[in-house]
Amino acid sequence: MSSAVQSPALTRVGTARRYLMCPPRYFTVSYTINPWMDPHQPVDTARAMAQWTALADTYGALGHTVELIDPEPGLPDMVFAANAGTMIDGVVLGARFRNVQRAAEAEHYRLWFVAHGAREMVMPSSVNEGAGDLMWTGSLLLAGTGFRTEPAAHAEAQDLLGVPVISLQLVDPYYYHLDTCLLVLDDSPSAPLIAYYPAAFSAASRRVLARSFPDAVIATAPDAACLGLNGVSDGRCVVLPREAVELGRALAVRGFEPVFVDVSELRRAGGGPRCCTLELRGSGKS
Ligand code: ARG
Repeated sequence: MSSAVQSPALTRVGTARRYLMCPPRYFTVSYTINPWMDPHQPVDTARAMAQWTALADTYGALGHTVELIDPEPGLPDMVFAANAGTMIDGVVLGARFRNVQRAAEAEHYRLWFVAHGAREMVMPSSVNEGAGDLMWTGSLLLAGTGFRTEPAAHAEAQDLLGVPVISLQLVDPYYYHLDTCLLVLDDSPSAPLIAYYPAAFSAASRRVLARSFPDAVIATAPDAACLGLNGVSDGRCVVLPREAVELGRALAVRGFEPVFVDVSELRRAGGGPRCCTLELRGSGKS
């Protein structure tokens, strides 16, 4: 037994969340809009559905509420609800997709928000892929650009949502949305904490992240390569792809509880748990 004195593990407190999800009934990979997507590789839709169901059940078991939107035929990426908008304090900034293959999702999601408790709903005029690129830390909106969301959308988000925005430049096409390489672990306004993979960011953005989050968990290349940073934290439990073992260990050291899920089929489209999950923050009526 080691004689080293261990400091007591930090006690993290999770809070109950409300998530919007979309069943992957029509999920497939029929086009390529990110380097993960290979239409020549077969996709098992039933398996994707089973993995997605297990993810939704995991949220339920953790005490979270899952709201559902009906999937639409012909929109295979609609399962990635995170891209549908950004909701803070009941105000929703909708989505405008970069790629024509996903464009029609924005209106389906807009109708859902209007019917299910958006206090205010505004559609963006610039390309804006929702919470995939706009990540709320509890006090700041971290905003990715480089592949999908345009810098002008960052300014729109700041204006509409009334929150400070930090723009971050993504440089690696495998990490095309901010939520593929950055994970908000703790969104308490007083002590926000993130994990991220530095190589996915420009040198300037790495400096901004280091300055803004000196305590951040730095993810390794293997953690990033399984989309391990595409996790969902409630402040204590962090739902992660099961391959993200090093990240899981690093989070446990920081007092979090990793909860592993299998998202191998959804990853064929470049997605993970966070992509399938849109957090609904504030004044919902359902
Ligand atoms: N195939 C989808 C796309 O490329 C995956 C979206 C993943 N979503 C996310 N929030 N990272 O648009």
